[in-house]
Amino acid sequence: MATMHIQLIPIIGLLLMGSVFSQYAQYGYDYGSPDDYYSNFAMGPSTANCAPECNCPANYPSAMYCDNLKLKKIPMVPSGIQYLYLQNNMIEGIDDDAFKNVTNLKWLILDHNHLTNANIKKNAFSKLKELQKLYISFNNLTELVGPLPKTMDDLRVTNNKLAKITPNILEGLENLTVVHLQHNKLKEDSISGAFKGLKSLVYLDLSYNELTKLPMGIPSGLSMLYFDNNKISNIPDEYFQGFKGLQYLRLSNNQLKDAGVPGNAFNISTLLELDLSFNSLSTIPAVNEGLENLYLQVNKIQKLTVGSFCKVIGPLDYSRIRHLRLDGKQHYPI
Ligand SMILES: *[C@@H]1O[C@H](CO)[C@@H](O)[C@H](O)[C@H]1NC(C)=O
Ligand SMILES: *[C@@H]1O[C@H](CO)[C@@H](O)[C@H](O)[C@H]1NC(C)=O
Ligand SMILES: *[C@@H]1O[C@H](CO)[C@@H](O)[C@H](O)[C@H]1NC(C)=O
Ligand SMILES: *[C@@H]1O[C@H](CO)[C@@H](O)[C@H](O)[C@H]1NC(C)=O
Repeated sequence: MATMHIQLIPIIGLLLMGSVFSQYAQYGYDYGSPDDYYSNFAMGPSTANCAPECNCPANYPSAMYCDNLKLKKIPMVPSGIQYLYLQNNMIEGIDDDAFKNVTNLKWLILDHNHLTNANIKKNAFSKLKELQKLYISFNNLTELVGPLPKTMDDLRVTNNKLAKITPNILEGLENLTVVHLQHNKLKEDSISGAFKGLKSLVYLDLSYNELTKLPMGIPSGLSMLYFDNNKISNIPDEYFQGFKGLQYLRLSNNQLKDAGVPGNAFNISTLLELDLSFNSLSTIPAVNEGLENLYLQVNKIQKLTVGSFCKVIGPLDYSRIRHLRLDGKQHYPI
């Protein structure tokens, strides 16, 4: 493992300094709670028609909390509920009429259950005419559930065994903004075309999957695109050039070598942050002038000269890079 020599660091002086950590949290994974809609939120006694095992706070009547209850089935859901929390149970399946009282459900949280595709009825979700968030991570799904309502904006299906996303299953979800699919078994062929036409998509996380190539058909409006921990060894010519607003691109822990990276692959004019750490690059790739954070630690980079950057950005402008990591240490600041 080649290590950046410490005495080279002054060459790029201030490029190395500065604190980091940009917008990782913005679309991060948390359950949240629709507090924004209810400023005086607090848990209180359950309303009369709540499922007996759950909690429906009287001063927050559209939410039903049924998390951490070892439930094996979806409980009765009374009409009026819009936010349904079912995480950390042992729910194995969903019947077609499980949500028949609540066709205007907005959030459905099903993380950490025992769901399999075979036990989720085909139309379980499609009747939910106003569903915005579906969180169904840490289950036993092998393919993406659907069809999903067109009102969806946030879909999280991490830590399952997804090997397939049926083409067109997300078609027409014009407001879908955030998609988390990390920690699955997706290969490039099983997702090509899956995201086509998602014109509002801003955030797509495909980290910790089995991609050996970059998938085709990724919407060009994305601003955050994450492929960490896959087996990607090359970047097709011009792959990123079609993206009009890409700001955060992560490809750490892949198998990139110089030979698989065309000269202008990462010269993406809108990019603010590029993570290429834990690959096998031996030279610093050309980057765009506006890039602020570049991560290259644990690669095979032997030498670094001002020219490594200046060929891109010119000798008088040391670029806007505030943070650059080139060391060989096996730790990772995220
Ligand atoms: C629908 O609501 C009624 C009345 O609250 C309840 O008895 C019934 O079990 C609910 N059905 C489902 C599927 O939740
Ligand atoms: C998923 O399936 C496997 C094998 O079928 C089983 O051992 C495991 O307990 C299941 N996990 C969950 C969360 O249901
Ligand atoms: C998408 O969002 C816009 C703005 O909030 C809304 O007017 C529109 O109805 C939504 N589309 C769908 C299919 O829900
Ligand atoms: C990067 O792209 C810009 C145009 O987007 C171009 O002017 C510049 O020469 C490119 N840099 C390199 C090193 O090719």
